[in-house]
Amino acid sequence: MALLPILRFPDSRLRTRASPVAAVDEDVRRLIRDMAETMYAAPGIGLAATQVNIHKRIAVIDISEDRSNLLVLINARIVERAGECDSEEGCLSVPGVHETVKRAEWIKLRALDGNGKPFELETGGLLAICIQHELDHLDGKVFVEYLSRLKLNRIKTRLIKQAQEDKDAATA
Ligand code: NI
Repeated sequence: MALLPILRFPDSRLRTRASPVAAVDEDVRRLIRDMAETMYAAPGIGLAATQVNIHKRIAVIDISEDRSNLLVLINARIVERAGECDSEEGCLSVPGVHETVKRAEWIKLRALDGNGKPFELETGGLLAICIQHELDHLDGKVFVEYLSRLKLNRIKTRLIKQAQEDKDAATA
């Protein structure tokens, strides 16, 4: 297993639209194991393949307290949504930023699991929010892009400065 480097906003590769997975083979299963390890180590509650610069429609999520309930989503599609809620979110690709965005309150989803088996899921609450957040990544969208241009530009400036400082510190 391996920890994968996570792209940071505003890296333009985060805007890539991921392609469907054609077959859940050993390469895909290895990637899922590495993504789960990377998510748990970060630590985070969700990670999309886009964030590790692999542009396939794969996401891993675990919102359980004891980190024992891994949900693998392959080629997931939201087929129904209902309601609206305010969601305070953060993202491993946007470190240190927490902002409130609008999400559907309830979703119905169709996806393949980690073995390539189709399943359907109806859910609300944090899980529904987390799924919407991760599927946005696979469409090339980061949650801060729902914010006003002013807020978004402030966040961009701060993160670019932070990345430069981290780089300077590493080479000093
Ligand atoms: Ni994220």
